[in-house]
Amino acid sequence: MNFSLKIWRQQNAQTPGKIVDYQVTDISPEMSFLEMLDSLNQKLIEKGESVIVFDHDCREGICGQCGIFINGQAHGPVPNITTCQLHMRHFCDGDAIYIEPWRANAFPIIKDLMVDRSAFDRIIEADGYISVSTGAAPEANSTPIAKEKAEKAFDTAACIGCGACVASCKNSSAMLFVSAKVVHLNSLPQGKIEAKKRVITMVNQMNQEGFGSCTNTLACEVECPKQISAANIAKMNWEYIKAVIMNEQ
Ligand code: SF4
Ligand code: FES
Repeated sequence: MNFSLKIWRQQNAQTPGKIVDYQVTDISPEMSFLEMLDSLNQKLIEKGESVIVFDHDCREGICGQCGIFINGQAHGPVPNITTCQLHMRHFCDGDAIYIEPWRANAFPIIKDLMVDRSAFDRIIEADGYISVSTGAAPEANSTPIAKEKAEKAFDTAACIGCGACVASCKNSSAMLFVSAKVVHLNSLPQGKIEAKKRVITMVNQMNQEGFGSCTNTLACEVECPKQISAANIAKMNWEYIKAVIMNEQ
């Protein structure tokens, strides 16, 4: 397969970027999207040109590193997968493919398609964990958790922190990501003790990082590769309001 790639090139966050045209030929339909970029980079190296910088790690849909906008869609045209799980057979021979980085003020561009998502790390560092003693492993396993709560925790724990929700939101809101983390931990008995402090601290950190507010357009839910429900945002807002009111009493 042959493709005409239109790739965003940008030296760093301080310099302006632009779309640059590249032609790739003899691409196997079974190649992943990242392997296709690898093959282009190999050719650029052979010609002595600078490679296209993009983020990746596991290439198994687990780590959340590989976020790229492909033809205006976060992680490309196939729903519920990450960019590393996307294969070239989902495109037509001769297609023009536009490849751009996540665009959000809170995710400054490092180079080309790679952005700095450390704002997410700082939100997790703020209070996205359980610090009370939960006992040894056998005790944790013997703590009864209702099936409905365990499933809610598992569903929200599926968030891989990729940032597609922020990038696809017109307000660059991080509320889907933060709500997934809050609901995951606050649903469990081990997380309940610190639940009020957690939701206040994480929401405050999210606001400090410069993410926008949620206006319920739900683009985040559509583009999320892990099908995190936007209903978690309503749950987080409710927990935040309750926590603030109880703190003031
Ligand atoms: S909520 Fe979905 S889109 Fe947002 S960071 Fe988590 S996995 Fe990615
Ligand atoms: S490289 Fe890890 S999710 Fe894509």
